Amino acid sequence: MITVAGFNTAIDRLVTLDSFTLGEVQRANAVQNYPGGKGVHVAQTIAALGEPVQLVGLVDGPHRNFIARRMSERGVLFHGVEIKDELRQCLALRERDGRMTEVLDPGPLLSRAVRDQLLHTLGRAMDASAALVMSGSLPRGFEADTYAQLTRQGAAAGLPCFVDASGDALRLAVAAMPYLIKPNGDEAAQLLGSAVTGIDAAAALARVLHAGGVARPVVTLGAKGAVGYDGHGAWHAVLQLEHSENAVGSGDCFLAGLVVAQQRGWAFDEALRLAVACGAANALHEETGFVRRADVEALRARVEVTRLSA
Ligand SMILES: Nc1ncnc2c1ncn2[C@@H]1O[C@H](COP(=O)(O)OP(=O)(O)OP(=O)(O)O)[C@@H](O)[C@H]1O
Ligand SMILES: [Mg+2]
Repeated sequence: MITVAGFNTAIDRLVTLDSFTLGEVQRANAVQNYPGGKGVHVAQTIAALGEPVQLVGLVDGPHRNFIARRMSERGVLFHGVEIKDELRQCLALRERDGRMTEVLDPGPLLSRAVRDQLLHTLGRAMDASAALVMSGSLPRGFEADTYAQLTRQGAAAGLPCFVDASGDALRLAVAAMPYLIKPNGDEAAQLLGSAVTGIDAAAALARVLHAGGVARPVVTLGAKGAVGYDGHGAWHAVLQLEHSENAVGSGDCFLAGLVVAQQRGWAFDEALRLAVACGAANALHEETGFVRRADVEALRARVEVTRLSA
């Protein structure tokens, strides 16, 4: 079983309009709500790829059934810790030309009791686990070193730990030497203080992260693919799509691919191939942070994986 700590569950509201003009009344063509947050994306993608997965995250009264039903349909065992406040909402305004404007709630401020309950629920879930994935922003109220502490706890229990975060939470987690991190170019630059301008810069950053104790650092570069280093080789993997519908959440699906490949004992270059296929499969359709297994299988054969020279 793979355990995902994706505490900051959200309600994603996708509003489709012809065009969006600031300061004017807008009429939407369609509105759709999805359970969201990075943990949901990662967990439902792991399930779509066929591996058993459980997710620990927040839930509120009004959305408990909505989220539980969707997670169960998607094959995710969901352990929801209920709060009295509302879950955060992430509003995405999508114009006909594909432009997206996102408005993200700050989200609830957690009491100590709720924080303890999340950590307790996660601790129990980890007992029956083969890997721990920490994904997304920490809800307000958590210390920034929470992922670092969980990484140490997971490693002590013999679990490979995967961290997808940003800012201080990522920086502190890196010091705890997780098995794998997957910053995007911006997050990697923030982490190491130098811009990631392309494949070579990403490979250099991955080597620095590896020297710092991260076994398999990966830097993602959106449509330009991803670069990973495992101490033996650096690899670039990429897939050119003719058309991208919505690439938000591709990093989450990418991470799910890496976790699944690790659980199956695949070589690192094959792990990157699967991950890139997952990131691209997410971009094929409108929904954020989800893939169809058949799309992933079809795309996997088209991923170009190149070993970079030292
Ligand atoms: N337009 C695209 N075409 C093909 N592949 C893509 C595209 N966008 C993303 N991908 C794949 O998905 C991976 C992750 O994407 P990206 O670098 O945008 O992650 P991210 O910024 O963490 O995304 P998010 O946080 O929204 O999930 C990329 O490395 C790439 O392999
Ligand atoms: Mg990301």
